[in-house]
Amino acid sequence: MTLIGPSLMCADMSNLGETVKRLDQAGVDFFHLDVMDGSFVPNFTMGPDMVKSIRSLTKKPFDVHLMVENPENHLDTFIESGADMISIHTEATVHLQRTLQTIRDRGLKAGVALNPSTPIDELKYVIDVVDYITIMTVNPGFSGQKFIPSMYKKLKELNNWIKREGYNIKIQVDGNIGDQTVPGVLENGADMLVCGTSSLFKPNVPFEESIAKLKNFNCELSRN
Ligand code: DX5
Ligand code: ZN
Repeated sequence: MTLIGPSLMCADMSNLGETVKRLDQAGVDFFHLDVMDGSFVPNFTMGPDMVKSIRSLTKKPFDVHLMVENPENHLDTFIESGADMISIHTEATVHLQRTLQTIRDRGLKAGVALNPSTPIDELKYVIDVVDYITIMTVNPGFSGQKFIPSMYKKLKELNNWIKREGYNIKIQVDGNIGDQTVPGVLENGADMLVCGTSSLFKPNVPFEESIAKLKNFNCELSRN
């Protein structure tokens, strides 16, 4: 079953609380919260106070995507703010295994994210301590970018590895996930879609309509 997760950095920040409630009622499966430090990526977005401010508005999982240097220094901050899942970048720490293990030891789901140029081999010695893997399908840092076509091949490679070894790991895709790209990412093994300006946050399109469309892609795929 495909899980739909709105990328809240694409929401209207002046009305974030209402948006979270509407998305929850419209049937999203999780909330994707992009955190950026201006160093690992050249942008800033939300911090722990913003995460905390919306925590009580929904029971759906908060998936905190740490696009920050040395994420091991910030785990407590985001765990306390209400994260249920935390993904960190392989490129952002020398202590990848220890940090993923710590996320799990603290009772959260541990995710690892790969920038577009990072091969999946980087995951060889942490595959046993992750619950989900995020394939960045754009270069991280900004919404509204174009999907990088070589990520289909990378997705397929990852999916084949997970299937071959029988790992219980979900594959998340993040960046320009919309009408043009959803069929291809689903076909190549994605099961968690991070949905931003390309699919959910479209002017004058009700969330319910966009979510139904996204869920329908999955039905079409399972029919073929
Ligand atoms: C980019 C973020 C994405 C982005 C998705 O660094 O991780 O989640 O917000 O937005 P669109 O759909 O516009 O690519
Ligand atoms: Zn993200």
